[in-house]
Amino acid sequence: MTKKIAQFETIITGLLENGYGVADDFWNVADVQDLNVSFTERYNKREFKTAGISKNAQEVRTIRGDEILWLEKETQNIAEQNYLIRIEEFILYLNQTCYLGLRTYELHFASYGIGTFYKRHFDRFKNDSDRKLSIICYLNESWQPENGGELVLYLPTGKKIILPIGGRFICFESDKLEHEVLVANLERRSVTGWLKQ
Ligand code: OGA
Ligand code: MN
Repeated sequence: MTKKIAQFETIITGLLENGYGVADDFWNVADVQDLNVSFTERYNKREFKTAGISKNAQEVRTIRGDEILWLEKETQNIAEQNYLIRIEEFILYLNQTCYLGLRTYELHFASYGIGTFYKRHFDRFKNDSDRKLSIICYLNESWQPENGGELVLYLPTGKKIILPIGGRFICFESDKLEHEVLVANLERRSVTGWLKQ
């Protein structure tokens, strides 16, 4: 079994047994660095926008504080392409092994500035009922516990805290698992997305 398939299997087993799957080193150090080059460049070019929800801008800031940039499937950037390809492979694997009938996906870079958070929520909104699985890969190259920004999963068995460590990938059912991002004390980066029906 290749490392890639072993990771897919780890994630799927976690999903089935615990309601969430984690794979550390899903994206290796060099690949995380390459994605960060594009992330930084595009952030500096002001391509990121304040993330929205169906509320007015002021109200939104009390709920979530991240800035996002949707990735284009036609991107010419190799690091972004590599990530998109891996996600397409994951979709194929999920469809072949779990018959999920996933058809498409969407991905965005997310930057949480110092002092920002995302309050407890589900990922399925009224206008995107086709979201099946939420997938997040962290891009923080040397995250320390004091940097905060933990992902909290609200499982039936209690809270599970996940540190946003670079290369770590997490997956859960978008409409089943409530979660929260705690206040980040340092810029917190991820590539976040949804696998859709
Ligand atoms: C989201 C989200 C979690 C994280 O973008 O909807 O919950 O750990 N992200 O970044
Ligand atoms: Mn979410």
